[in-house]
Amino acid sequence: MTGSNDGLRLDLGDRSYDIAVGDGTLKSAGTAIRNAAGPGKCWVVTDETVAATYLAPLEDSLREAGLAFQTIVLPPGEGSKNFATVENVVNTVLDGAPERSSTMIALGGGVIGDLTGFAASIILRGINFVQIPTTLLAQVDSSVGGKTGINTRHGKNLAGAFYQPKLVIADTGVLDTLPRRELVAGYAEVVKYGLIRDVGFFDWLEQNGAAVLDGDGEARAYAVRASCAAKAAVVAEDERENGVRALLNFGHTFGHALEAETGFGAELLHGEAVAIGMIMALELSATLDLCPVADIDRVRQHYAATGLPMTVPKAQNRRWEPATLIRHMGHDKKVQDGKVTFILARGIGKAFVARDVDLGDVERLLDDAVGA
Ligand code: NAD
Ligand code: GLY
Repeated sequence: MTGSNDGLRLDLGDRSYDIAVGDGTLKSAGTAIRNAAGPGKCWVVTDETVAATYLAPLEDSLREAGLAFQTIVLPPGEGSKNFATVENVVNTVLDGAPERSSTMIALGGGVIGDLTGFAASIILRGINFVQIPTTLLAQVDSSVGGKTGINTRHGKNLAGAFYQPKLVIADTGVLDTLPRRELVAGYAEVVKYGLIRDVGFFDWLEQNGAAVLDGDGEARAYAVRASCAAKAAVVAEDERENGVRALLNFGHTFGHALEAETGFGAELLHGEAVAIGMIMALELSATLDLCPVADIDRVRQHYAATGLPMTVPKAQNRRWEPATLIRHMGHDKKVQDGKVTFILARGIGKAFVARDVDLGDVERLLDDAVGA
């Protein structure tokens, strides 16, 4: 297993921070935030769905800790992750006369975390920021590592900043209310850590993945901690994605193309696209004689056991065109010197960055995977 499961911390010199994982951590969030970010005024940003259940306990804990705060509630969903909403949030915070010692608190999934972190990075050129992720995807991926941002008319996550939080508080108990589809989509990112560089964790998931999804508290907390430890280790090594951090994009080159085709909406959730993309990346690796087919069979069996999607959905009126998907890949942030970057694998736990993949091989693979 990568890293320790206790006292999790992302090590980035004077920007290091704790990642507090456990059932019930929301109740003591106020004190933890005060300890990590100081006694300045706070702005909580959340969405309507999350606010209905989790805003009151957070507000109670902020009051108990003696922190003054204001709350901003946004509509749920990807549609909020844009310039107009950031402008609104930034101006609302500026209306309340923030200081550099003020703190923005993101209470929600990846949408709220990405947007709030970006707003915090530009208000007064950077105020404190705390992540309280409430989806599995946000707990194991988006809340850790400091990627913040919004979507623009040119594409997803194309405006943003690397901006680290002061603290991450992942209360695994809040996952009880997460719809099953969102939970399974987030689980794809958990599996990703096993597939990229930790076959031992993948073994553990084979034994315990169903328990994680079915709400076993201990298994859930272990999976979230192990995922955060894996991500923290990678980000500590390569904060700005010049090297090993690119491995975290396993399945994402394919996944982003699938998402772009479906308009980044409910037809295909980010985690679902990543799940399908990881299978495609493994298949491409096998085509290139890099990955044993037996490893792919093993991964497919785990997908089947946990309900992860392996193939693109067959929606009505949706035709998947390999050439169009490859065009989407060309617009990805990860294109370098005009070349599409792929993360391939020599087997489970053995991922690597490949910058010289022949797009003809990719097109043939897509033809098999999505062609009519
Ligand atoms: P999301 O934030 O849209 O949340 C999904 C849905 O679940 C929303 O409707 C939300 O209201 C609801 N919800 C949240 N917590 C809940 C709870 N505990 N109980 C019930 N409902 C709850 O989606 P997401 O999957 O968390 O995040 C997706 C976003 O994350 C995308 O915009 C993606 O680009 C971004 N992302 C960022 C990074 C990063 O490193 N910054 C990594 C991966 C994904
Ligand atoms: N989600 C990929 C990364 O944080 O680098």
